[in-house]
Amino acid sequence: MHKKSLAFALTALLCSHAHAELSHSDSVNAGKTKTASCVSCHGEHGNSTMPMFPKLAGQNSVYIANQLKAFKSGERKDPMMATLAMTLTENDIVDIANYYADQKVTGEHEELFDTAEEKAEHEAMVKLGGDLYRNGDLKREVSACIACHGPHGEGNKPAGFPALKAQHANYLVKALTDFQTGKRANHPENMMHMIAGKMTEAEIKAVATRIATMKPEK
Ligand code: HEC
Ligand code: HEC
Repeated sequence: MHKKSLAFALTALLCSHAHAELSHSDSVNAGKTKTASCVSCHGEHGNSTMPMFPKLAGQNSVYIANQLKAFKSGERKDPMMATLAMTLTENDIVDIANYYADQKVTGEHEELFDTAEEKAEHEAMVKLGGDLYRNGDLKREVSACIACHGPHGEGNKPAGFPALKAQHANYLVKALTDFQTGKRANHPENMMHMIAGKMTEAEIKAVATRIATMKPEK
């Protein structure tokens, strides 16, 4: 009798575990189908190849879901995303976020330069941007990006802080400029608003250049 009930409990435990696994992969599969209309801009598996369209592959699901809800409600404004987000249900958002979070971000960061000056200029920007990313600027109260976005640009899922690694530099510059001007202000605490507001144009370009070179696999 005792043995039997133990076996029963074990079976029940295993089944509920298997069910949880299955429902995550079901959600990912459903998300793949639901992202058919996203591929033209965000690329195959969310690895966009065009610099103005953000990569979504490997982004954490909490952040993706928050942004889709913000596009849907109109709190985050973008003419291309607004109409699309409007058609998504709560369930679609969960599946899409699970699907993209499950993909691996890729990047081809072999930089080609025409002249030695261009190469030196790029390296100087990566250095300045890397310093700002790690240390911030105490005097001007620019917080170090590493605190929230992680040492390798991996972000922070529980907090919903986005991963940045291997993102297109052009998109990063646009995002930081939109925070600076207040065009983008859908986060309830508007942390990026205060941070980007204190950065110069040159610093934004430098930090974006640095982040774009962060290795995708880390
Ligand atoms: C016509 C092009 C286009 C299509 C199609 C498109 N997007 Fe976008 N998407 C954009 C652009 C442009 C942005 C950046 C908006 C900005 O600069 O604020 C964006 C941003 C996003 C973001 C925020 C990314 C971030 O890092 O903050 C998410 C999430 C997203 N799109 C999901 C989707 C999903 C899901 C679909 C399909 C249902 C989709 N997009 C289809 C153009 C598109
Ligand atoms: C206190 C935490 C915090 C710090 C420090 C921080 N960030 Fe952020 N960052 C956030 C949050 C939260 C968001 C998402 C904002 C939203 O939802 O609108 C974000 C979003 C971003 C985005 C937009 C990403 C996307 O996919 O659209 C960029 C780019 C960015 N941060 C760059 C930086 C840089 C560069 C620094 C350092 C100079 C920095 N962040 C410091 C919390 C932080």
